[in-house]
Amino acid sequence: MSAKFIAIFILTVFASCECSKILFMHPSFSKSHVKPLQVLAVELANKGHEITFVTMYPLDKPVKNYRDIKIEVNEEDSKVYTDIGKAMTAGENIFKMIPALDKAIFENGNKILQSAAIKNLMNNGQFDLVVTGYFMNEYLLGFADHFKCPSIIFFSGPHVSSLNAMVGNPLSPEGTAHGLLQATYMNGFTQRLKNILFFGVDFIMFRTFFYYRAKSVYNYNFPPDRYRSYDEMIRNVSLVLVNTHFTSSGPRPLLPNLVEVGGLQVKPNPAPLPEDLKTFLDDAKDGAILFSFGSNAKSIYIPEDKQKIILKVFSKLKQRVIMKWESDVLPGKPKNVLISKWLPQDDILAHPNIKAFISHCGYGGVIEAKSNGVPIIGIPLGADQKGNADKIVEEGWAVRLDMTDITEESLTNALKEILSNPKYRDIVGKQAILAKDRPMNAQDTAVYWVEYVLRHNGAPHLHYPGADLNFFQANSIDVILFIFAVIYAAFKVIKLICGFIFCRSKKGSNEKLKRN
Ligand SMILES: *[C@@H]1O[C@H](CO)[C@@H](O)[C@H](O)[C@H]1NC(C)=O
Repeated sequence: MSAKFIAIFILTVFASCECSKILFMHPSFSKSHVKPLQVLAVELANKGHEITFVTMYPLDKPVKNYRDIKIEVNEEDSKVYTDIGKAMTAGENIFKMIPALDKAIFENGNKILQSAAIKNLMNNGQFDLVVTGYFMNEYLLGFADHFKCPSIIFFSGPHVSSLNAMVGNPLSPEGTAHGLLQATYMNGFTQRLKNILFFGVDFIMFRTFFYYRAKSVYNYNFPPDRYRSYDEMIRNVSLVLVNTHFTSSGPRPLLPNLVEVGGLQVKPNPAPLPEDLKTFLDDAKDGAILFSFGSNAKSIYIPEDKQKIILKVFSKLKQRVIMKWESDVLPGKPKNVLISKWLPQDDILAHPNIKAFISHCGYGGVIEAKSNGVPIIGIPLGADQKGNADKIVEEGWAVRLDMTDITEESLTNALKEILSNPKYRDIVGKQAILAKDRPMNAQDTAVYWVEYVLRHNGAPHLHYPGADLNFFQANSIDVILFIFAVIYAAFKVIKLICGFIFCRSKKGSNEKLKRN
């Protein structure tokens, strides 16, 4: 008995020795991008790792082994973020938002790196691993060099070309739709053409514009005389975790160090709901509907005439409605509607009384709805949302209704269709089963791979040699041109030789003719 106890004690001590100091960097203003990475950080803290997380959105409740470093946001910066939210809710063209995004990501990013909190972290911190939350912020990769440790990058959205490029994963545009074209199945010439053009625009934006903007921030904070170069650090990433899964975004070629952890933010067992939400949902005898536009776009920025229509339609429903509403007051709020500034979305979606989700079709929300088997009424606004909406309409568990098309009639019809036609629930139920059928759930997969990188000191054996090649080399264009050149030269030589022989034999026969 005591021997067993001692054995367990030694094992525990031994296990706790394996724990590492991990720095998570996700200073982005986009809360929905930060949340999934926090789930991973908490999982690692629960396993005994010592976590430091740099963010604008510290955890609500303290977690053991977990320390937040909060980034302070002044009024001016907060206005930039609000403006982006407003533009997104208005479905503004992404190109028009570039100046605001540029300020938010690069100017403010630089300011954050210069802040006292980060300087202090750089002077006094010591880490075994840096995990960066991607948001066009490759300049953060300098921290891995600063702390002389491996680095992992995580993205909460779909596959993007810049992350593929880091580890040299093939984009395969011939069979893999671009992240913004989710709905397009890759068959037929025009689709492939459209896809290539999307990758072209993506290349100009992400791999050229954002790349150089991030590089300048990197060079300012990690000057080349003291640090490894920006490009070197990009290629030094050990592992990329992407919040996708082939059950949502389709099968594609994946290198072993590009790991899909789609649904990271969906807890295997939902957390208990806050008391008010729980009672509201438990008592919803006719079911309930969740309405949320996510964290960047906001319900309060919905045009006023559309707000009125939405509330009027809600007031006539027998179902209850939980609405994400970023203010304390909602004039004309119907009795069956509950408002809240922030919602534990996936826990709400897991409640059996939730019958439908009215969503802007952000990537995270779609996965959460799918995992919980809840049909969607999609009101896509911008970014990848239209593609996401089309894709789930194609899959058969959603209806799409654009903001400009919202009328009392169209919204009522969409709700009626989703709530009364059993087809949607059946299909999404099957999709949920598929999405969950994996060797390990998303959280365990992510934890496994992070610890794998730690165990094997950055796991350089995963590094794909193709990652170090330029465009021409990676597509073997130089080799193909060389082979053609050799064939051409050989052809020329053969022609020359033939010509020579032919000439001589002609000459010979001419001479023979003359002699006769
Ligand atoms: C990162 O760079 C270090 C130092 O050159 C090297 O030892 C390590 O293997 C690299 N890691 C990867 C994943 O390329």
